[in-house]
Amino acid sequence: MTLSFKATRDSRVENSSYFVGLQEYEKNPYDEIHNPGGIIQMGLAENQLSFDLLETWLAENPDASRFKRNGESIFRELALFQDYHGLPAFKNALVRFMSEIRGNKVSFDPNKLVLTAGATAANETLIFCLADPGDAFLLPTPYYPGFDRDLKWRTGVEIVPIQSTSSNGFRITAPALEEAFQLAQACNLKVKGLLVTNPSNPLGTTLSRKELDLLVNFINKKGIHLISDEIYAGTVFGPAKFVSIMEVLQKKILANTGIRNRVHMVYSLSKDMGLPGFRVGAIYSNDQSVVSAATKMSSFGLVSSQTQCLLSAMLSDKKFTKKYVAENKKRLKSRHAMLVRGLKMAGISCLESNSGLFCWMDARHLLRSQTLEAEMELWKKIRDVVRLNISPGSSCHCVEPGWFRVCFANMSEETLNLAIQRLKTSVDTISFGKDSNGFSHKSTENLITKYSVSKWAFPLSRYNER
Ligand SMILES: Cc1ncc(COP(=O)(O)O)c(C=O)c1O
Repeated sequence: MTLSFKATRDSRVENSSYFVGLQEYEKNPYDEIHNPGGIIQMGLAENQLSFDLLETWLAENPDASRFKRNGESIFRELALFQDYHGLPAFKNALVRFMSEIRGNKVSFDPNKLVLTAGATAANETLIFCLADPGDAFLLPTPYYPGFDRDLKWRTGVEIVPIQSTSSNGFRITAPALEEAFQLAQACNLKVKGLLVTNPSNPLGTTLSRKELDLLVNFINKKGIHLISDEIYAGTVFGPAKFVSIMEVLQKKILANTGIRNRVHMVYSLSKDMGLPGFRVGAIYSNDQSVVSAATKMSSFGLVSSQTQCLLSAMLSDKKFTKKYVAENKKRLKSRHAMLVRGLKMAGISCLESNSGLFCWMDARHLLRSQTLEAEMELWKKIRDVVRLNISPGSSCHCVEPGWFRVCFANMSEETLNLAIQRLKTSVDTISFGKDSNGFSHKSTENLITKYSVSKWAFPLSRYNER
């Protein structure tokens, strides 16, 4: 008996080099004692820098993790069935925290919040609510590789890229937005919306006020939706500030356009709190129909009552969250500086960034030629010879070869130092992309590999191909 279309042909969504890198790491993971020659994981955007703060809070508040409230057991209350609306105490605590990490410039109404099992489920649920199979969403490149799975796989929705390059620091421009819209139309795709990550994964940069205005004006003009995935909102360590899409909306006077109802936000505690295993995410929308539909859909990926209960106690502790957010940013800033400095000593620069758990590394000068094939060659060498798993730009759909996402918050300082040391030694001794005369093919020409319409349109999910 054959399996379903989704279970077989569509499952190639995890074939990208991003996922391959994660699998290769699993075969030979670095361990200081047991496997010192193994691969160091720098392809995972995890935040392990402030676990001690969370652990101290847990030790000081034992009731929270022991099914107790004011010393009394609440085990039975938690063990029983909870409906899909979520625990009010947790929703209140979460909206307060969301506001706090946005500098209290915006406030959130818990009635407009839908809890989901992480941002993965939040993004997919929103797509299910806003688009039908065969519709399209526009996404600025480079983007988080997981989106090819999260937004397309089960929904049958297509992603159309909004191109950006290093020529302007990978910023979103009006012509690029229009070009993507036209590309979608040329492919007979109905554009239902635009999705951005702010701060950006993989760039580690925040969208400027100008870009945010551009996006809001664009979706207003085209009559489409905007999803702002703000999963990294609490990682901004400066200098440029973070402006939430909800802050932009609050200030904009957009009378009678209904635009407020077409802007939706995604959040999660996976990055800011370093809790991806807890699976806590949220959708925030001003459109009550979206909130209502998404709440029903959240049945497929609820957050357990136990987790909600623990986190409502933690996030309600204002003194703790204030200290945590400030200290976590300080640690991220110092780690980021350490990696940038180390790479610089190896002759490698990074895109200037102010947020996230990664750097966007510019290794164009190490490529044999300015092609995506050469990028893959270099990536494999870094993985197999230097033994670092980083993510090639092409896995993030970057059109310019030679960029890599390098994570810095999922390991100890010693491991990061070792990774930098390995790279430095290898750059000095291994002739990555150099030819037999020892010359590196520097990126002197403008050799950006432009994807053709067909290349973009046809690796898409093709829901109607069966
Ligand atoms: C931009 C972005 N959105 C969503 C996710 C998924 O997060 P979660 O673990 O909350 O599902 C990630 C994870 O890396 C991400 O970077």
